[in-house]
Amino acid sequence: MSSDVATEADQETRRLQHLGSMFDVRGLGVVVTGGGSGLGLTMGAALARAGASVTLLDREEDRLATAQEDLAADGYAVGTATADITDADALDEQFARLAASATGLHVAFANAGISAGIGPRLRSGRLTEIDRDRWRSVLDVNLTGAMNTVASAARHMTTGYGRIIVTSSVGGIRADPMVGYAYAASKAGVVGLVRNAALELAHRGILVNAIAPGLFETNIRRANPTAQAMTADFARISALKRAGRLAELEGLAVYLASPASSYVTGAVLSIDGGAALTGPNDVEV
Ligand SMILES: NC(=O)c1ccc[n+]([C@@H]2O[C@H](COP(=O)([O-])OP(=O)(O)OC[C@H]3O[C@@H](n4cnc5c(N)ncnc54)[C@H](O)[C@@H]3O)[C@@H](O)[C@H]2O)c1
Repeated sequence: MSSDVATEADQETRRLQHLGSMFDVRGLGVVVTGGGSGLGLTMGAALARAGASVTLLDREEDRLATAQEDLAADGYAVGTATADITDADALDEQFARLAASATGLHVAFANAGISAGIGPRLRSGRLTEIDRDRWRSVLDVNLTGAMNTVASAARHMTTGYGRIIVTSSVGGIRADPMVGYAYAASKAGVVGLVRNAALELAHRGILVNAIAPGLFETNIRRANPTAQAMTADFARISALKRAGRLAELEGLAVYLASPASSYVTGAVLSIDGGAALTGPNDVEV
């Protein structure tokens, strides 16, 4: 009886050790752009809780300070870095600083992004109404900013263990009239960026993947006045009939940063409740 109990306890220990070593991110240097809020903060916090050495990077200093305080209150120390991802030199300086730190740089989430408002579902989001300034600023942040981040990560990840994870969107992999043109174009664009970078960086042990989230409740949607209607529409078209909960991103973030994903590169991983499987909402004419 007592030896059976010992065996069970032993198996439980081995089970946890096995899981622990597959997903072991302890000691990895991680940077997350857009880390002051929403998906980035969720993914950064998940990595910090799993034992990684995390730096949240954002252009909003206040958000970073609040995030850092909240995590410290929970017992997790994270670093912060203020930079705008559209400023390639300022961003690169931060990456250089992190890579030169005692921990080094192993994992970069190119996650910061902004909304382009509603797409062709409404008249104001149709092709003839495109606001050129907004188009340029969305492309600048979501596509050029992601390229700046991936380029800096490629330049400064020199340890032989590298993971770059770019946040695309379900709106970048299939049509969605709720999603503004600039956003759809930028999120499709980063998928091309990821695939080429995966090919270029493989020989250096750097894996490059995209995640394509569906709808999650975050600050980005405050910039979109039709957010509530979008939530209802999104729930209707997703297979699971609901928006995502932020905690549901944590496992994927840890997986992609960890040794468990060692044979995955150039992939686009959907995390959208099955929304990409369904048809988009109609454009109402
Ligand atoms: N929330 C969703 O439903 C959803 C779905 C699919 C994809 N995404 C993508 O996820 C990413 C994160 O979005 P979120 O929902 O967490 O939004 P969010 O607004 O909550 O967080 C985005 C963060 O990025 C920062 N940021 C924006 N532009 C920046 C810049 N130029 N330089 C540095 N930091 C900048 C903001 O200050 C903010 O803290 C974005 O790329 C977004 O497109 C979000």
